[in-house]
Amino acid sequence: MTDAPGMIQTIAIIGTGTMGRGIAQTLAVAGFDVLVFDQRAEAAKEAVAFAAQMLDRAVEKGRMAGPDAQAAKARLSVAASLNDLAPADMAIEAIAEVLEAKQGLFAQLEGILSNDAVLATNTSSLSVSGIAAGVEKPARVVGLHFFNPVPLMKVVEVIPGLRSDDTARDAALAVAEKIGYRAIVCKDAPGFLINHAGRGLLTEGIRIVQDCLATEADIDRVMRDAAGFRMGPFELLDLTGLDVSLPVLQLIHGQFYGEPRYRPGVHLAARVAAGLHGRKTGEGFYRYEDGRRADPEEFLPAQTQLPKVHVPPGMQTDLAGLIAALTATHVEMSDTSKGALTLIAPYGWDATETALRLGLDPAQVMAIDPMTADSARVTIMPTLATEANLADGLHHALLRAGKQVTCIADSPGFIAQRMLAMIVNIGCEIAQMQIASPLDIDDGVRLGLGYPKGPLALGDDLGPQRVLAILNALQEQTGDPRYRPSQYLRQRARLGLPLKE
Ligand code: NAI
Repeated sequence: MTDAPGMIQTIAIIGTGTMGRGIAQTLAVAGFDVLVFDQRAEAAKEAVAFAAQMLDRAVEKGRMAGPDAQAAKARLSVAASLNDLAPADMAIEAIAEVLEAKQGLFAQLEGILSNDAVLATNTSSLSVSGIAAGVEKPARVVGLHFFNPVPLMKVVEVIPGLRSDDTARDAALAVAEKIGYRAIVCKDAPGFLINHAGRGLLTEGIRIVQDCLATEADIDRVMRDAAGFRMGPFELLDLTGLDVSLPVLQLIHGQFYGEPRYRPGVHLAARVAAGLHGRKTGEGFYRYEDGRRADPEEFLPAQTQLPKVHVPPGMQTDLAGLIAALTATHVEMSDTSKGALTLIAPYGWDATETALRLGLDPAQVMAIDPMTADSARVTIMPTLATEANLADGLHHALLRAGKQVTCIADSPGFIAQRMLAMIVNIGCEIAQMQIASPLDIDDGVRLGLGYPKGPLALGDDLGPQRVLAILNALQEQTGDPRYRPSQYLRQRARLGLPLKE
């Protein structure tokens, strides 16, 4: 290997399954010479053929010039044995996720590659330091964690192990730069950054369903239509495969010694046990017919007359847009709660507590999630005592006002508030643990998970004090330490500082 890490030219890929073939293709396109090896000889050949097919398709679609595709193909070659990988300046392993297998492979490669070649692992759940412990020179081992599908997911985590040296890290960064990927440097911690940050959306969604507060489709719709996410937790789980996601959830929870913030919830395990693994098996949380998801129909309430509507003065600002939309459809407003349906807009508190604290009659109250009030989909939440005709009347009035409506059971934090608060809180914990820099946390989550914003930026948009208040209320009402606010969040909220820095 040449002294300057930027001079890496030949890279060996070992393990040419889903990830290895994508990595090989991406590296070849960027100008690296790539040697591919798989213990199943056919797999390496198939990987090169697959990459060639992908490159041809890119040319057909006008995304790549013919000569560039030809050059990339020429840079890919199959290695018949591990010994043929000797010229590589760097090896990236993407073999089975088994510690002993990865350690054994690196130990073998140490005897084949030059003394200063870098050994990179694409592991998603094992400790990079643990893999490095199996070789004579652990300083040369680094994590280089790609995402599936590699050619499309232009982000990569660079994970120095506890004994990695700067050369290994810089080599990984240089490779990331040459392929034009955003490199996220993170600590060798469970789930690294991106998989760790993804716990909030999944576990909180599952928790809400488990408590029978809303359906999977309700949660996905709110996260899409009101919170601006591309996908809600259940459509995401169906796409990834419940059987693939469950072990990752369990592993990260276990690796953090049972930290309640990462607790998976029994609801998912039951589906996996039943063989409902998602899109690939025709049913997960949704059913699929001819590859198309069959979404359950939305609840349409009986059409009833809505009496006057009252909004307590302290909540009028949050609901101003909604009030305007309702009055435009001739809903009459009242200055008093007497004989009216009172709309409340709590943060973190359920409708029952809020009504009682305000001295309102819980039978005449409907809570509106203020975070969704101005969006295309409003979340509404009656108390157990709210008269059905009032709930139905408001639901209908909102539909007439052009809103979509999700009605959920009375619970702290609605859907959007608690999901977003959880995502922000976990992002803050990651920042507190300095697993990655605040900038990298947000960029990594946007690029790796496809969220509209990173968790810290989301928290700044909502307001750190508001997120703190939601979490405190959730913790108080549920008694669950899962909702305890991160110190990173609490101190910044108390001092009026942004989360992003
Ligand atoms: P895969 O099962 O699709 O491919 C693994 C390949 O490695 C197979 O072709 C197999 O024949 C080969 N192999 C296994 N042991 C070997 C050995 N000792 N020597 C040479 N070849 C060997 O697996 P996939 O999904 O590509 O995952 C590979 C690695 O990438 C794992 O560490 C996984 O955790 C990680 N990863 C997977 C992601 C995914 O979405 N599939 C995402 C990010 C990381």
